[in-house]
Amino acid sequence: MSIFRPLTSFAAAVSGAAALLASGQAMASVDGAAALKLAQANACMACHAVDRKMVGPAYKDIAAKYKGMDVDKLAASIKAGGAGKWGPVPMPAQANLKPEDAKTLAAWILAGAPSK
Ligand code: HEC
Repeated sequence: MSIFRPLTSFAAAVSGAAALLASGQAMASVDGAAALKLAQANACMACHAVDRKMVGPAYKDIAAKYKGMDVDKLAASIKAGGAGKWGPVPMPAQANLKPEDAKTLAAWILAGAPSK
């Protein structure tokens, strides 16, 4: 029996490494901590929370509704603001938000707004 033991632990190590790799790749596309800071710096969090509705919709709800949406499209929508898609309260246009920051925020929101 003992001969199988090294094999089993080797298999466990391999699948553990594969899981690490997979999560590493998922995180590489969105840096949650940096994006959250960006959202705080741009006052997004004054109206939005990740998992509950405040003035604006929860980021998780936005992610669910727009699953698979093009990042640029959502970034444009953040820049322009909007009204009537989620409720009666409009979102003001984000004139001072840099286009690349809008894109980072859009990608982060579409990824479910992870905190890291
Ligand atoms: C003054 C409050 C307020 C601020 C500040 C604000 N939002 Fe919003 N946001 C809203 C409201 C209200 C809606 C829903 C508008 C609607 O119903 O169409 C919304 C909608 C959205 C949507 C969905 C857009 C769509 O096309 O459906 C995204 C994404 C979003 N906000 C991201 C952001 C980000 C990122 C920031 C910071 C740069 C931000 N918001 C700042 C209030 C705000």
